[in-house]
Amino acid sequence: MMDFTLLTFDTLDSTNSEALRQAKLGAEEGLCIVAREQTAGRGRRGREWSSQKDAGLYFSVLLRPKLDPQFLPLITLVAGVAVHEMLAELGLEPDIKWVNDVLINEKKICGILAETTETDTGTAVVLGIGINLHSKNLPEDVAAKSTSIQELGLNPGNDAASNLVRTLTRHIERFYVELLKADGPSSIISEWQQRSTYFSGKRVRVVLENDAIVGVTDGLEPNGALRLRRDDGDVVIIQTGDVERLRSKP
Ligand code: BTN
Repeated sequence: MMDFTLLTFDTLDSTNSEALRQAKLGAEEGLCIVAREQTAGRGRRGREWSSQKDAGLYFSVLLRPKLDPQFLPLITLVAGVAVHEMLAELGLEPDIKWVNDVLINEKKICGILAETTETDTGTAVVLGIGINLHSKNLPEDVAAKSTSIQELGLNPGNDAASNLVRTLTRHIERFYVELLKADGPSSIISEWQQRSTYFSGKRVRVVLENDAIVGVTDGLEPNGALRLRRDDGDVVIIQTGDVERLRSKP
């Protein structure tokens, strides 16, 4: 059993930043940071994560994985699969869009940001998870593509955050322990495959730093990178990028 220690704050710059600071100070694996509000919540690829008070669950957990570094990106998939399980337990039907947006009815309900840092006791990974509890007050462009626990007709309740944290840590533990086993990397990919319609055969556009590629998804590499088959038949391997679903051939 992992030991989870929970620290909750009214307000923080970012729960990921706090967990990274604590990691540098020697905090142990299993430290969880939750804040009711973030003043500098961040998303993937330098984006902001809107984090108004009690509008979402803002959660980070510190891990110190004994894992071949090439497989570190799979920790992000562990989080996606764990959130998927948690939402399915609430009776919802989630999907995971590579790499780790959790969607319901094709709208985003959860974003995941994994960050690593070197510490005196080895590499630390902070897994940051943001789940929308309410949709009010989201920036307009975000609101159109997002949903929330409340919008889906569930009552987030007064202690939504603490209930969700308990379920979430239980699922993170299960899939993290699975990842660390001898054949863990391939079994996490298969857990992910079972929960994502994006795994293969989905026509998408992948937006990269200075470019965009269109193609059909063709499974994941052993480290979790996305394989995309372009129309000319070449397979491109994508380590980071944003996937957008396309409905029809151009
Ligand atoms: C994304 O979809 O771009 C990832 C969003 C991750 C947001 C969470 S909220 C808790 C943690 N603290 C942060 O500053 N970011 C992550």
